[in-house]
Amino acid sequence: MTTPDAVIVDAVAYAQAIEDAVKASAAYYAGGTSVLDDDAYDRLVRAIAAWEDEHPEQVLPDSPTGKVAGGAVEGDVPHTRAMLSLDNVFSAEEFTAWTASLTRRVGHDVTRFSVEPKLDGLAIAARYTRGRLTRLITRGDGTAGEDVSHAIGTVEGLPDELAEPVTVEVRGEVLMTTAQFEHANEVRTAHGGAPFANPRNAAAGTLRAKDRAYTVPMTFFGYGLLPLDDTGPALAELLEESAHSDLMTRAGAYGVNTTATTAVPGITVSTVEEVLARVAEIAGLRASLPFGIDGIVVKADLAADQRAAGSGSRAPRWATAYKLPAVEKITRLLAVEWNVGRTGIIAPRAVLEPVRIDGSTITYATLHNAADITRRDLRLGDHVMVHRAGDVIPRIEAPVAHLRTGEEQPIVFPEACPRCGSGIDTGEQRWRCVNGRDCHLVASLSYAAGRDQLDIEGLGHTRVVQLVEAGLVTDLAGLFALTRDQLLGLERMGETSTDNLLAALAAAKNQPLSRVLCALGVRGTGRSMSRRIARHFATMDLLRAADAEAIQQVEGIGTEKAPSIVAELAALAPLIDRLVAAGVNMTEPGATPPAPATADGTDATDDGSAPAVADAGPLAGMTVVVTGAMTGALEKLSRNQMNELIERAGGRSSSSVSKKTSLVVAGEGAGSKRTKAESLGVRLAAPDEFAALVADYVDAGPGTEPSA
Ligand code: IVH
Repeated sequence: MTTPDAVIVDAVAYAQAIEDAVKASAAYYAGGTSVLDDDAYDRLVRAIAAWEDEHPEQVLPDSPTGKVAGGAVEGDVPHTRAMLSLDNVFSAEEFTAWTASLTRRVGHDVTRFSVEPKLDGLAIAARYTRGRLTRLITRGDGTAGEDVSHAIGTVEGLPDELAEPVTVEVRGEVLMTTAQFEHANEVRTAHGGAPFANPRNAAAGTLRAKDRAYTVPMTFFGYGLLPLDDTGPALAELLEESAHSDLMTRAGAYGVNTTATTAVPGITVSTVEEVLARVAEIAGLRASLPFGIDGIVVKADLAADQRAAGSGSRAPRWATAYKLPAVEKITRLLAVEWNVGRTGIIAPRAVLEPVRIDGSTITYATLHNAADITRRDLRLGDHVMVHRAGDVIPRIEAPVAHLRTGEEQPIVFPEACPRCGSGIDTGEQRWRCVNGRDCHLVASLSYAAGRDQLDIEGLGHTRVVQLVEAGLVTDLAGLFALTRDQLLGLERMGETSTDNLLAALAAAKNQPLSRVLCALGVRGTGRSMSRRIARHFATMDLLRAADAEAIQQVEGIGTEKAPSIVAELAALAPLIDRLVAAGVNMTEPGATPPAPATADGTDATDDGSAPAVADAGPLAGMTVVVTGAMTGALEKLSRNQMNELIERAGGRSSSSVSKKTSLVVAGEGAGSKRTKAESLGVRLAAPDEFAALVADYVDAGPGTEPSA
C-alpha cells in the first residue's frame, strides 16, 4: 500500500510546498537529513508537478520539478557532458508505456536493454589522466559539480591507477555498504559527531567533508564511461560507439568496480517481459544485498538507440528508473522495552509510532544492546530513521539529530533485571540477568523441549509453566526426574498424557550431543554451531576438557567466542552433571573424536588427510542451502532436520546462497534464494532429486528409527 500524494489546494500551499521541497533537497544532497524521507519527498514533488500542470502560469522559479537534484546544489567544476538524472516509473504498466514512447522516438522496437540495480548513493564523476585518478567531482546541478578530490583513496572500487594508461571519465555511484555505514557511525560518534541517519547521508556527508580527523571507507560502482578532451580519437570513438554493457565490461577490465561483482550484476535482455522478470529478481534480492538500492535502471543498451532517443534537460530519454517501494521511513521512538530471553540476556526493543513501510505496519525495531543505544545517542521522542527490507527485522538506523526539539528524554537503563529483580551482569555488551537461564526458566525449558532441540512432544509452553509454577522443575535436569505421580497431580493431566510425556522424556535422553548442547542454550551457539561443536568433539567429556584454543579448531569459532564458550560450559557443569546422572546421552553418533595433540603441538595422526567427517558421504565438500517446502521422503523434516541430514551426508549446511554454495535444494514456494542461485549459476535440485542423492542418510536422523 502506498500513501496517496497530497493535493495542493492553492498558491499559498504551493509556495509552502516548494519551500519544503527545496529545503529537503538541499539537506539530501548536502549529506544532512531532512524532515522528509525519500518517499514523502517524492510525493511532495508529484503534488507540486500536479499543481503546476493545472497552473502553468504560476510556476515559481525555485520549483524542483524539471531540475537535476531538485536544483539544490551547485558546483564550480564544469562537467564535460551534462550529468543527468533519471525519470521514474513505478509499475509494469508505466514501464511498458515508457518502452512504447522509446519505440516511437527510436523509430523501431528496442531489442537490447541493459538492466542494472539503481544504487542508492550519490553520483560522481572520476577523471583519469593516463590511467591515474586525478579528480573527483559531484554531480552538482548536472552542469557543474563540486571538486571532492580530497576523497581520493577512501573510495573502494575506484582505483588510484587503472590497468591501462587511458584518459577517461568514469561515472558512477558512491555509497556506503551496510557494514561501512555502521563503521562510519561508530567512528563518527566516537569523535563526538552526531550519527548519520542512513548510508546515503553518510556517503554524502563523508564525501564532501574536508579535513576530518578520521577517514571512513566508501564504495564505488561505475555505471558510465566516457571520453575526455585528451582521450585520443580512437578510444574516444570506441567509447562513443560502444553499447552500455560493453562499456561496463571495459570499466571492469580497467579495474573499476561495477555491479558485475555483486549478486545483482547488470545484464542485457531483449524483451520487455525479460526486463520485468529481471526487475522482479532484483527486487527479490534487495533485502539480502550488502548495500542499498532504490530501484532498477533500465537503459537502451546500444549507442545508436541512445542517440536516436536523445536526452531532455533533466534526464535521458533512453533510460528510466523503475522505482522500488521505500524501505526507510522517519518515525518517532516512543519507548524502549527490556525483555529477558531464554539465556537471561536482557535485550532492549524500540517501540515506535506505527509507520507503514513497504506494505507492513512497523511498531517495533531491534536495538541490540545498551551500548548500542548510548553509541547512537538515542533519546525517547527522537525522530528516527527506520529501515525494513524483506523479512529482515526492522532496525533503527539512527536518530535524526537535527530534528530534536529539546523535549527528548534520555532512555533509562534498568538497574535490576526487569523480570526477576536480581542484579544485572553488565560485564559484556549484551547485558544478562545474574540468574542467567534460570531467570526465564519457562523460556529456557520451552526452548530445550522444542522440536529442533530435545523434541519432547507434549511439553509445550503451557505445560512448562505448570511444571515451573508447581515447583516441580527448577532446571533442565529436573525434567528427567519427574515422576508419574507428580505429573498426574497436575491439572488437565490424565493417564494417557502422563504416559506419553514420560515416554517422550525417555526418548529425549537419546538425542545426540548436538541437540543436548543446543538445549542447554550455551550463549553464542545456535543449532548449527552446536552441531559443528558436537561433530568436532564427538563427546561431552572431550568438549568439557577442551580449552579455548582447542575450541577454536571448530569452524566459525574465533578468539572472542572460544573463551566465552569455555566459561559457559564451566558455569553449566553442575547442570551437565545432573543430566549425565539422569541418563541423558552425551555423544554424537557418527562423529570421530579429534586426534589428541602430541607434545610438539602437532596432530598425532596428521597424515595430511582431511578430517574424518568431511570427506565421507555423498555431499562431501559441498555447501548446501535448503529453501521452499520439502516434499516426498523429506516432507516431514524441519529445516533443522534437513540441515542435520546434510551434515550427516558429509556436507555443510548454510542458510544463505553465495558463490560458494554448491547446491540449492529448492522446493515449492522457493523465493529469493532460488533466484539468487539461478543468477549465480549455482546448481539447483528438487527435493526428490536431493532425497535420492542422500537416500542412505535420510532415515538415520535423531529421533527416527534406523531403516531395517
Ligand atoms: S545512469 C544518464 N545507472 O540515479 C544516465 N544512474 O535518479 C544517468 N543511479 O543520477 C545515470 N544507479 O546517481 C544510472 N545503474 C545506474 C544508477 C544510477 C544509481 C543514480 C545516479 C543518477 C540517479 C538518478
